[in-house]
Amino acid sequence: MSSYIIEGGHKLEGTVKISGSKNAALPILAATVLNVGKTTLYNVPNIQDTQMMFKILETLGGKVEKKNNKIIIDTSKINKFEIPEELMHKMRSSVILAGALLGRYKKAIFSYPGGCDIGSRPIDLHLRSFEKLGINVVQNYGNIICDAEKIKGEKIDLDFPSVGATENIILASIYAEGVTQITNAAMEPEIVDLAKCLNKMGAKITGAGTNVIKIIGVQKLKDTGYKVMQDRIEAGTLLCAGAITGGNICLNYKNANHITPILNKLEEAGCNIKVEKNRIYMQAPKKLKAVDIKTMPYPGFPTDMQSIFASILTTAKGTSVIVENIFENRYRYTAELNKMGAKITTEGKTAVIKGVRKLSGATVKSTDLRGGASMILAGLCAKGMTTVTNIEYILRGYENLDKKLNELGAKISIQKE
Ligand code: EPZ
Repeated sequence: MSSYIIEGGHKLEGTVKISGSKNAALPILAATVLNVGKTTLYNVPNIQDTQMMFKILETLGGKVEKKNNKIIIDTSKINKFEIPEELMHKMRSSVILAGALLGRYKKAIFSYPGGCDIGSRPIDLHLRSFEKLGINVVQNYGNIICDAEKIKGEKIDLDFPSVGATENIILASIYAEGVTQITNAAMEPEIVDLAKCLNKMGAKITGAGTNVIKIIGVQKLKDTGYKVMQDRIEAGTLLCAGAITGGNICLNYKNANHITPILNKLEEAGCNIKVEKNRIYMQAPKKLKAVDIKTMPYPGFPTDMQSIFASILTTAKGTSVIVENIFENRYRYTAELNKMGAKITTEGKTAVIKGVRKLSGATVKSTDLRGGASMILAGLCAKGMTTVTNIEYILRGYENLDKKLNELGAKISIQKE
């Protein structure tokens, strides 16, 4: 496993362009299975998770062509509906292909994605929703076999506004007979992007971005081109990197409305933020102020920013309290930050962060994708050198994060194992 070597103490300054969204690109890549033909996608981030999705699409019989800044996916020859177990376990979010395969074939075989570093990650809401659509779901020995004579539109009320379950219901009901209505649907911007792409392909989806989404079944989709939205979590991560170094940065990013909770908390912590069309300017204070955070489903403060924001609060003035309401095991990174001199105590869903004057560099490990990002940010402001190990986690979800930070004035190098 490779590591990042970070020299702390450099203020970040300058402009950085935000890449395409991982969490929009993955369901949109799955959606290409529903069009028996070619779909051209732009702004797909070049990260390990999208590479893995390309591999799975090719394993199913699809063709993936990378041409300059676009990806052309030809699914006309896809003739399999079983997601290979080893690929499923490498990337649990490939469960999103189940909905697409069911939509096209009324059949999908996949294994339990299994838990990961932030929680047990159950898929009960996905499976119960499939059953409501008339799909038989048989589970044996870790395998899940889904098939249906026909998929009939239904009213589905989600116990929890699950992003993945909402996406899987949309994908499975594109060709359903009749209308599917999801209530208590997730409202994340990535779902709006998925719906926009599918509607451009000829689907009939309304209400994406609200908690009631309607899908009227259609007969066929068509070849189309679509540009994936920018990544709101990468935007938040780079703003926090600027904030923890007392920096002055500008994001080339056009969806400030997607990250208002993050902008509000950065302002509360003492940052000066100016939003213009396609640009966000941020001037950080010398010392941040402590703030309290509660993660919530969109449009609340995103759980994916929890560990990243925690890292900048380690040296803030005062004590911050974080409540993680979405995942049950998303504090593993705190032990690593404490190795650097942070004072974080956790109890169940709550973390208390007592601001310290300075962190000191250490060797710390990435516990997961966003935990790894928080280690990098801590290294940016720590005294001396920090080694962040297991950076393969980070490479799954961030496109050239080290390069972007170095262009802003950081000093990060990669040490290959
Ligand atoms: C998506 O995961 C994102 N991943 C996650 O980002 C993100 O943290 C999460 O949404 C919440 O915003 C992708 O989009 C690829 P959920 P997902 O279903 O769909 C429980 C990152 O760092 N739940 O909304 O798996 C679940 O256990 C990743 O980029 C059930 O109980 O999230 C969790 O507690 C991490 N049963 C909560 O809902 C189910 O059937 C939220 O999960 C499904 C979920």
